[in-house]
Amino acid sequence: MRKRILSGNRPTGRLHIGHLFGVLENWKNLQEQYECFYEIADWHVITTKTDTSDLLENIIEMAIDWLVVGIDPKKSVLFVQSSVKEHAELHLLLSMLITTSRLLRNPTLKEYLQNIEASQITSKKRAFDSFSEAVVSKFTDISSEVSTREKNDHIALLKSKLKDIFLEELNHHGIVDSEEELTYGNLITYGHLGYPVLQAADILVYRAHVVPIGQDQLPHLEITRELARKFNATYGEVFPVPEPLLTEFAKILGTDGRKMSKSYNNTILISEEPEVLEKKIMTSYTDPGKIRRNDPGHPETCPIFSYHQIFNKENTEEIAVSCKSGALGCVECKRNLFGKANDFLTPLREKRKEYEKIKDTVVDILNEGSKKASEEAKNTMEIVREKMKLWAS
Ligand code: TRP
Repeated sequence: MRKRILSGNRPTGRLHIGHLFGVLENWKNLQEQYECFYEIADWHVITTKTDTSDLLENIIEMAIDWLVVGIDPKKSVLFVQSSVKEHAELHLLLSMLITTSRLLRNPTLKEYLQNIEASQITSKKRAFDSFSEAVVSKFTDISSEVSTREKNDHIALLKSKLKDIFLEELNHHGIVDSEEELTYGNLITYGHLGYPVLQAADILVYRAHVVPIGQDQLPHLEITRELARKFNATYGEVFPVPEPLLTEFAKILGTDGRKMSKSYNNTILISEEPEVLEKKIMTSYTDPGKIRRNDPGHPETCPIFSYHQIFNKENTEEIAVSCKSGALGCVECKRNLFGKANDFLTPLREKRKEYEKIKDTVVDILNEGSKKASEEAKNTMEIVREKMKLWAS
């Protein structure tokens, strides 16, 4: 029997070439060897945003991008998370098997919180910070003779001691029970905290063996594996402990040289129109050290070179050499790239236009897939209820 794969993506709009070469090419190849379930994770989108006005449209947009690049509904199950209610049931049951502090330690949550404006940090945290500043400044005034370094060490120590005492007191009065909660408790919803539990349910409800993901999703898979083991140990073997399949791919930079991401507004879409594609390429960031044509360039940090690596594979070595030696100027290099990228993307763009005319068929594909996914999920939940000795239906 073929091993089963589950992977998913949040529908947040049209996909870009980072998705294409980072995720979708890989998904497409895996279809030949595995039984693949590919999920549009719409419930995950609303863990961090309440505005649902474009959600339905984004589901269709994403499905079209998948179909366009060759994710094939005859080979794989393409489905919408929210139409398989068993995900929600398993999410609920799994939520009893993990502590809130484990979820507060989730690195992707921490990263999210670090990106939130300092102004949104909770009033408890602010109160504590000003309290500790005030106390520390009182204590450190006394000794003006000690060196700055000693003084700083002293201040740091004092602050951390104070924090410990403060947390202990809060805890004692049943107010908070961890530093994370002190800092972040008011910033995240219950649903967002449970993001990895929902993701675990996505994977486990299909009893998947393998989960192709990027590095950034590893912490979630770790939680999934913990939950599978915990469930199996508590109620009996139901779930395989799923393995990650890390996607190896060339790093595709955004047109401003940072990571390609919708939120940075530096993407090249799979369905980019030729004029826009040309403009994005021709105005893209390149090596800032290469001002004149003859200046030696640094292809490894240049987004244009990263695009040559995907659209113009056969010539990359030559381009690297002539960029470094100064023989190839950026304008010419960009022109060459536009030609290659446009040749690659034109058939995809045309396919998209066809699918846009038959959105009903796209909806049918997703409904059909969701039906198949439901059957599998229902089977699993029957076993789960039986093992847990819950009400059977
Ligand atoms: N959290 C994933 C992401 O943001 C999307 C996702 C949801 C997923 N459910 C999943 C990925 C299950 C793999 C398996 O990319």
